[in-house]
Amino acid sequence: MNQNFCRPFLLFTAMLLTAITLVPFPAHSAGHKPRVVVLATGGTIAGSGASETTTVGYKAAVFSVDHILRSVPSLKELADVRGEQIFQIASENITPAHWLTLSRRVNALLADKEVHGVVVTHGTDTMEETAYFLHLTVHSDKPVVLVGSMRPGTAISADGPINLYNAVALAASPSGAGRGVMVVMNDRISSAREVTKTNTFTADTFKTHDLGELGYLQAGKPYFYRMPVRRHTSNSIFSVDNRESLPAVEILLGYGGSGREQIDRAVAAGVKGIVFAGTGNGSLSVGALAGLSAAAAKGVAVVRASRVGSGIVTHNADIADDTLGFCTSDNLLPQKARILLMLGLTVTGAPDRLQNLFDSY
Ligand code: SIN
Repeated sequence: MNQNFCRPFLLFTAMLLTAITLVPFPAHSAGHKPRVVVLATGGTIAGSGASETTTVGYKAAVFSVDHILRSVPSLKELADVRGEQIFQIASENITPAHWLTLSRRVNALLADKEVHGVVVTHGTDTMEETAYFLHLTVHSDKPVVLVGSMRPGTAISADGPINLYNAVALAASPSGAGRGVMVVMNDRISSAREVTKTNTFTADTFKTHDLGELGYLQAGKPYFYRMPVRRHTSNSIFSVDNRESLPAVEILLGYGGSGREQIDRAVAAGVKGIVFAGTGNGSLSVGALAGLSAAAAKGVAVVRASRVGSGIVTHNADIADDTLGFCTSDNLLPQKARILLMLGLTVTGAPDRLQNLFDSY
């Protein structure tokens, strides 16, 4: 090849390669929107009040998923949205049986290559529990987003429509993948493991205490700043396949001078595990220590958590956990420690192996 021909040829090839590298590969071809399935479970986001000023004392779990989706026409601009009514209840009535049904459905939907992500509409009272259960039992990197509202759709400044719009935007976004199960409320994206409801009625009730949210949603666009580092979803060992129930685990609350009676009653009722929300750094009164020691000696799994709401419960510090056969919850809130213990008991009853789970999930 002579040099005069060769130089423009090489230049053209270099320009072509540069162009290929710089043109972003579209995540979804024009006109083909990502499919997002909305699984509706009830709660205030499906609630109805007597008047537009009724923001408490309304009825939760009234409106159907079709009604909820129709009330936010702009969802169509974000995704090919499909709705399914999986339950229609207030979230204080969500039980492990509901979690198992929901998790199986989410896993089945995400196994479909046509489905990009799943949104679960849910009552806010126990949304953090369902979110954490899915965080541990959904085996997919695709986005799973829980969303609710603090005001019913009939109220002035209802927060359900914007929350739902944000949740669908996140579930449709490629950036929502690989981050575990998330909760979207009040323009914030939180990880299922740490997020909790902190106020009985305000719209900014969901918080992640010291550790902060994963990011924000603004104008339908997710902005992320952190990643969850504990094991979840694709990296979780827990499975709901062929499981019809979960081991019974009670949460008991410690208080100044609390006795052992409540612990003895739970053991007599046949619980397989107790999460004890102790005072301060999971400390135990004389009565609670006696009751929990006796429970552990009978083979009941005991996890020391804290009623404080944030911080680590220190293993083997003030209390000889290993000697007594106790586990500690790390920084999991008692209601989340219960979920991990229920799932943990499906794989082991040994305190040291259960503790490994609390140290890694
Ligand atoms: C519920 O949790 O089902 C009722 C309260 C709410 O959704 O805010």
